[in-house]
Amino acid sequence: GAPVEVDVSNIAPGQMITVEWRGKPVWIMHRTPEQLEHLGDNDAELADPDSQRPGYTPEYAVNEYRSRKPELFVCVGICTHLGCSPSPAFTPGPQPGLPSDWEGGFFCPCHGSYFDLAGRVFKNKPAPDNLEVPPYVFSADGTRITIG
Ligand code: FES
Repeated sequence: GAPVEVDVSNIAPGQMITVEWRGKPVWIMHRTPEQLEHLGDNDAELADPDSQRPGYTPEYAVNEYRSRKPELFVCVGICTHLGCSPSPAFTPGPQPGLPSDWEGGFFCPCHGSYFDLAGRVFKNKPAPDNLEVPPYVFSADGTRITIG
């Protein structure tokens, strides 16, 4: 499939857009400073907190944010279990199906897997792995990314 170029300069903090790449949904989310600050809070409950497993995290995203720039998260929006598309669940705090100390992330309704705001899967859930970070680069002025 052809690379997809996306203007990311108008995504407001806390907002996410979805684009299509190779027939798959790719999420591009502008995380807020608060969301970034809490990103590590659930590390002990994650299956692969440091994104060490091969195949899901390109080298440039093997960091605490799983991204090239901390605020901009780019991820394939397909569950690593059986391929459903998880839903955004950005509101922190107790909610049905989510941990009581939920800090926001994504929830897969198909079989109840949940992921943090870096797409990292919680332990002991049907989904075995973190959501995939696709190949992407920023334009020189930082306003656009090219996926693929
Ligand atoms: Fe997401 Fe099964 S497809 S939990």
